[in-house]
Amino acid sequence: MQTAAARDQYSSQVIENAFLCREHYRLVLRLPQFPPTEPGQFIQVACRDTGISYSPEREIDWVEGEPLGPSGVELMQPLGFLRRPFSLAGRSDGPDGVRLELIHRIVGVGTQWLSELKAGDTLDVLGPLGNRFRLPAVNEIPLLVGGGVGIPPMLYLAQKLKGKKGIAFCGALTRDLLPLTITGDVPAPSQDSTEPLNNIDEFARNGVAAVITTDDGSYGFRGFVTQALERYLDRTFPAGKQQGGRPVIYTCGPEGMMKRVAEIAGMRGIECQVAVERAMACGMGTCQSCCIRLRRDPARDGRAFEGKDWIYKLACTDGPVFLGKDLLW
Ligand SMILES: Cc1cc2nc3c(=O)[nH]c(=O)nc-3n(C[C@H](O)[C@H](O)[C@H](O)COP(=O)(O)OP(=O)(O)OC[C@H]3O[C@@H](n4cnc5c(N)ncnc54)[C@H](O)[C@@H]3O)c2cc1C
Ligand code: FES
Repeated sequence: MQTAAARDQYSSQVIENAFLCREHYRLVLRLPQFPPTEPGQFIQVACRDTGISYSPEREIDWVEGEPLGPSGVELMQPLGFLRRPFSLAGRSDGPDGVRLELIHRIVGVGTQWLSELKAGDTLDVLGPLGNRFRLPAVNEIPLLVGGGVGIPPMLYLAQKLKGKKGIAFCGALTRDLLPLTITGDVPAPSQDSTEPLNNIDEFARNGVAAVITTDDGSYGFRGFVTQALERYLDRTFPAGKQQGGRPVIYTCGPEGMMKRVAEIAGMRGIECQVAVERAMACGMGTCQSCCIRLRRDPARDGRAFEGKDWIYKLACTDGPVFLGKDLLW
């Protein structure tokens, strides 16, 4: 199979857009070719029909002395005019091309449009974009911490671990906002248990056990995913002890959650790789809308921002993956 070498704009075909749980869909796209990708990377999706000219040139009616009325269809009706970023949740390559998997949650006009796509529709995507997670070394135990729409990149990471034993910690407000397949063969853990179980199909099939948390206790551990992570670390790696390897944490989700995960990791001297999901307009380093502040590191940053102890980076091209210890949030 031919593999495209460089980031580009591609036309994909929708293979499946399956309802997963409240507001969440799994979108599977087929492309004849797509460049190599790694977990942490994302694509920019045109969440509208790109075959329509939304703002054709036309003369504007203007009555002298009156304000100009709005023109352009994007001002007249809700429209996802800019592309929207989505993390890769999985990929497979076969004789018929590349399949990319996304999981999207309806939060606005673009994701509402995406949710209405049917098998056979075409979708314009741009990518792959951003940097990637550093995969764990042989002596490292990956701990994957995802919250809400931060869960999708954890699924792709689990796929790439290639059977390396890891543990996923996934949290949501409530059970029907968990975009995961809970298998019935293992009983739901009790509400204060952080015992990893093979009860989440997407992780278990890649050898990754999971601890599920819900804020309201409707499934798994009752509380925040950060509380479950902390409790697990204290039990498994007491006072920094490393059993069977050194833990390394990967996280994606709401910023408050990731900030706490980075703190928990920092207090224990554990490396924490954070995939930030700042709102992005272009996704390619042009618009500067996704600035994020990092601790300045002269070895990494050279003379840029000399005299300051912080530096701006772009979440889309320098990230989205940063080290938790570097982020100033
Ligand atoms: C790198 C990256 C990866 C992402 N991966 C996923 C993914 O795998 N699955 C998924 O469902 N979503 C993901 N998102 C978020 C997704 O891009 C937004 O939900 C989407 O752009 C919303 O588009 P919309 O037109 O439906 O909503 P809009 O109408 O544009 O916005 C609806 C509401 O959501 C808020 N909003 C939009 N984008 C963000 C954001 N990034 N952070 C916080 N609030 C936001 C808006 O301020 C507004 O209040 C990712 C974002 C980034 C930056
Ligand atoms: S999204 Fe445009 S510069 Fe990052």
